[in-house]
Amino acid sequence: MCGIIGYIGNKQSDCILLEGLKKLEYRGYDSAGVAVHNSNNIKIIKTNGRIKNLEEKLLEKRPEGTLGIAHTRWATHGKPSEINSHPHSNKSGTIVAVHNGIIENYIELKERLKDFGYEFVSETDTEVIVHLLDYYYKGDIVDALISTIKELKGSYALGVLCKDEPEKLIGVRKDSPLIAGLGIGENFLASDIPAILEHTRDIYLLNDNEIAIITRDSIELIDVNKNKIDREVYKVTWDIVSAQKDGYEHFMSKEIAEQPKVVKDNLSLRLKTDAKTINLDGINLDKETLDKINKIYMVACGTAYHASLVGKYLIERLARIPVVADVASEFRYRDPIIDKNTLVIVISQSGETADTLAALRLAKEKGARTIGIVNVVGSTIARECDDILYTLAGPEIAVASTKAYSAQLIAMYLISCYIATQKGYISEEEFIMFRNSLLAISDNIKQILKNEDRVKEIANKYKNCDNVFYIGRGLDYLVAKEGSLKLKEVAYIHSEAYEAGELKHGPIALIHDNTLVVGIATDEHLFEKTMSNLKEVKARGAKILAITLEGKEDIMDVADDVIYIPNTEWIFTSILANIPQQLIAYHMSILLGHDVDKPRNLAKSVTVE
Ligand code: F6R
Repeated sequence: MCGIIGYIGNKQSDCILLEGLKKLEYRGYDSAGVAVHNSNNIKIIKTNGRIKNLEEKLLEKRPEGTLGIAHTRWATHGKPSEINSHPHSNKSGTIVAVHNGIIENYIELKERLKDFGYEFVSETDTEVIVHLLDYYYKGDIVDALISTIKELKGSYALGVLCKDEPEKLIGVRKDSPLIAGLGIGENFLASDIPAILEHTRDIYLLNDNEIAIITRDSIELIDVNKNKIDREVYKVTWDIVSAQKDGYEHFMSKEIAEQPKVVKDNLSLRLKTDAKTINLDGINLDKETLDKINKIYMVACGTAYHASLVGKYLIERLARIPVVADVASEFRYRDPIIDKNTLVIVISQSGETADTLAALRLAKEKGARTIGIVNVVGSTIARECDDILYTLAGPEIAVASTKAYSAQLIAMYLISCYIATQKGYISEEEFIMFRNSLLAISDNIKQILKNEDRVKEIANKYKNCDNVFYIGRGLDYLVAKEGSLKLKEVAYIHSEAYEAGELKHGPIALIHDNTLVVGIATDEHLFEKTMSNLKEVKARGAKILAITLEGKEDIMDVADDVIYIPNTEWIFTSILANIPQQLIAYHMSILLGHDVDKPRNLAKSVTVE
């Protein structure tokens, strides 16, 4: 959610910092600020609202200096405001910090610092950090930082400047991402790679409680006992253009359009055209190991959780192992039954979601084997799980997840087919059928995307509905859940997903003649039953949009509008049926004039509980 960039070099820092912040906009924020060191003092400039407000303020009076830090804040403690935005400083303005994360014991620390005579100007938890740094500063900012972090409970990625040490930029992290970037005659600190990718591809990924001491010519990593840490340089292989819009009007439309490629990239490594088995990037789950597994947990949040529901459904149906899919924020507090024979699979686009990370740590603590299905390479979850399957979707910038979700579904298909094959539940013939259908998914998605204009017309027709129900049975219900979430997120239209058979147990009371019901009906065996449920709501005045397979023309008897998807094996309909749902949400959002890439109140990476 919040973003950090720091710079030390030989160029004016304000422009570099501002450009870096713009690259981090996708993380979500409500205020922004920079601090620039000019050898005599540290000048702080901050604003509420968008980065362009900050840019205008900087243009009025550019702060001179080649060392600086900057921040985009997403409010947690205290409302979005200029005073609460970062950077924060001690009273004399000699120590300045930016912070991502949450300091859990800040009230206790604040009381203590007040007793020592410190005055607080903001409502933030972060302000305790600068006063603690001030309290501990005896001429060495690194020593002060080490003493300070020993006092902190919670999560933090910190960037720190000190007026009396004009040759140093300091960073430290715990449970919040932070990287240091290596340049020539200049170096960087950032919470995320895109912020500095324009300048360097050579990165140090910091682990918890590691401190980066950054000067113009060097980056030194140390631990809290001041032991030097040797870290391999991580080379970023993806391009900055892939983190930009590439001619599309919005990131969300670009990312929707990228899905055929994402699917292909994921399969090219793992499922060859003549393959008899799936390659899960070397993750060892042979029959002997699988036979010992008594239960699988799949844990995630939001859209990633919806992918886990598909995983649960398929592993249980194809591989006959009991699976519990759980929302991470619930899982971590309900004392789940885990032992060494439990497999815990966590799914996360960002690899930094606080609840998912905590769930992973809990699972490891209890002795489970853990697998991460993660998109961001080198993220904390990716580094901490026992095995990792990357979803290879590239950077996802729009807050609403689209291509990462499709990549997560591909991972679910691969894992469930892999486990079922290992356990002998899928015959060679069935495997070949699945393989061929899976390899056709990329083209199937292209075909659906060709009908975008028609979907846009439908979005226009229904954009003023005040209530939408998404219904389906089996896998179609799981697709419905994702469709409903996407609509809420970007079109701000209230919607609910229901198992089609559950409607008459209560929610049907809400159906009236301005209710849109989106019926997902791709399961051959349950088609007639879903049809009956659609007739029930039609009789009560609802408008019906159906998403079904090509050839199912009889759905026209009940639906006002139909979107057809290509035929495929039943297990893969979820990825195809979801594409029109993404397009509907996207177009409704645009038609209603919303900021589709940065929906209100949402952040891309939820690194607090
Ligand atoms: C919805 C969305 C969120 C995320 C959720 C988990 O479009 O993007 O619901 O899926 O916050 O995030 P990750 O996958 O980064 O753990």
